[in-house]
Amino acid sequence: MHCVMVGAFGFANPCALHYLVGMTFQYDTPENHVERRAGLSPVLRSSMFELPREKWARHPAFRGEAEFWTQIHGRLLSASATLASWSEQMLGEDDPVKLAQMGAEVSRLGHQLVHHAHGHHHIEDDHFFPVFLRAFPQLEHPLALLDGDHKVLAEVLDDLEKAVGGMAAVTRNGEGMQRDAWLSASQVLLSPARRLDALFIRHIGDEEEICIPVMLNWQG
Ligand SMILES: [Fe+2]
Ligand SMILES: [Fe+2]
Repeated sequence: MHCVMVGAFGFANPCALHYLVGMTFQYDTPENHVERRAGLSPVLRSSMFELPREKWARHPAFRGEAEFWTQIHGRLLSASATLASWSEQMLGEDDPVKLAQMGAEVSRLGHQLVHHAHGHHHIEDDHFFPVFLRAFPQLEHPLALLDGDHKVLAEVLDDLEKAVGGMAAVTRNGEGMQRDAWLSASQVLLSPARRLDALFIRHIGDEEEICIPVMLNWQG
């Protein structure tokens, strides 16, 4: 399905975004960093399309790429919230049998989430953002912000992947009936799971505000 979206906007040089973005944008600031900003700054908004979120679904161009993109985001947000919630629930469970069942589900969901998030970010980095930038150079800084977010998210996804691997290793190591082994793995997983969920909420909300209006204004 990603190919359908990419095809609608044409292919771009995968390195275009990194090549084209200017040197003046500072990502690691309270206004811009995904873990510190409260939203998109007025400076960034001044270069974006103005189209309030409440009008998107009624726009004639929404059905298609834009709607599909928001659905993917919805699934990522749902998965990250569920993973954090399940990890927390495991910490309150005493029964090793139930912990083993929950651990298997958490491992499955965690692997899927990491895989889908990386795939989604690659499509955005290599195709959508360069295409948007070439069509609308004024979006240089908003797109550089999203590029910076993806780098932070990649670090968190690496931490999460390691923690999910630790959860999966409990059974493989023959510790499936040891309560402490599950609780230890849950404790390790909870921190990156919570962090990813918070970052996804900030990043995805802002990314949609930058990019959905671009899709809805697309004349290609
Ligand atoms: Fe993204
Ligand atoms: Fe996205």
